[in-house]
Amino acid sequence: MRWIASAAFGMEGMTGRDLKHLGMRDVKVMDVGGAMFEGDFADAFRASLWLRTCDRVLLVMSQFEARTYEELFQGVKAIEWEKLLPADGAFPIRAKCVKSQLMSPSDVQKIGKRAMVERMKQTYGLDWFPETGVTFQVDISIRNDVVTVAVDASGEPLSKRGYRTWNGEAPLRETLAAALILQSGWHPWQPLYDPCCGTGTLLIEAAFIALGRAPGLTRKFAMEAWPVVPIDDLNAIRREARLKYEEGSKRAIRIAGSDIDPEAIELARRHLKQAGLAGRIELSVMDMRDVNVPGEPGVFVANPPYGERLDNIRAAHAVAKQLGALQRRHPGWKLCAFSADMGFEREYGRRATRRRRYYNGRIECEYRIFE
Ligand SMILES: C[S@@+](CC[C@H](N)C(=O)[O-])C[C@H]1O[C@@H](n2cnc3c(N)ncnc32)[C@H](O)[C@@H]1O
Repeated sequence: MRWIASAAFGMEGMTGRDLKHLGMRDVKVMDVGGAMFEGDFADAFRASLWLRTCDRVLLVMSQFEARTYEELFQGVKAIEWEKLLPADGAFPIRAKCVKSQLMSPSDVQKIGKRAMVERMKQTYGLDWFPETGVTFQVDISIRNDVVTVAVDASGEPLSKRGYRTWNGEAPLRETLAAALILQSGWHPWQPLYDPCCGTGTLLIEAAFIALGRAPGLTRKFAMEAWPVVPIDDLNAIRREARLKYEEGSKRAIRIAGSDIDPEAIELARRHLKQAGLAGRIELSVMDMRDVNVPGEPGVFVANPPYGERLDNIRAAHAVAKQLGALQRRHPGWKLCAFSADMGFEREYGRRATRRRRYYNGRIECEYRIFE
């Protein structure tokens, strides 16, 4: 079976690399959208459980060219849906069209549905499908006239790890936070400090990496409800991940953070508890101007206020200045800042050693690493 590990712009390569680390076969990083790999249900489950930067894992049912709705209809109808879907399965369709002849997602959705129903009528000998059973979310995406029909094996996006139930002012998506930690070059035995940690996403993702905790360890995935899936094998993979975490959680970590806002710290504490990390990460209410971390140098990671609106751009600039001063107070420390503020380096007081571009939702941001 062929699978897509979908990932946001800038994170495709990282997702591909992680798939290779997991031992997946025939990994191909796509220009946009993520990486493809080959494997059985157990492989897809392992990927869902362990990939830190991936949004969803999808089972590819077919890929074909279509420039007319008739071609789309025939292509979707030719898929052996009966191999995956039971007669009572629900099959809602999501559609996306980019740079193609067929550019109406709602029409693609309708034709796709009609084609699936037609196929199922023939194979199940029924006229009507109640769709009262397990949900199979079908994804039809058309790019440059190539149609990819896939079924979502994840359910909720993989960024939903299950620990964040309260949102602060501008929380980072968990997958993006993990990408920032992985890109920072931080080694889990080094100290890591977030001086404006908000609800704690970067700290939690760093701790998961350091302790060898699978990001999806405590959540469910859509594929677990599919009747064709060997559920005992999947449960064994989850048990194995749990054992790995039991071992990993004995490691000592030096991860800490602070924020000027007491409410944000309160939320961060709740998230830590939800993530099973209570007591493992030091948190305090503090202005970053007062942060002084004693001991061996490590890595500061920060997602400071963006200043994407005119009214708060001055505040964002002031914070960039304070981050520059923070690094100067800590010789030997690296500082990595993720922000949409294009004047960041000027305010910080020096040029970044490395830069990478990502989107946080629709906001274009830069991740700047100051060695
Ligand atoms: C974009 S949010 C960080 C969100 C965080 N990454 C999360 O996932 O929740 C920016 C944070 O910077 C904090 N902040 C602003 N000025 C600060 C200062 N001078 N010292 C410390 N924290 C500050 C804000 O309280 C806010 O929580």
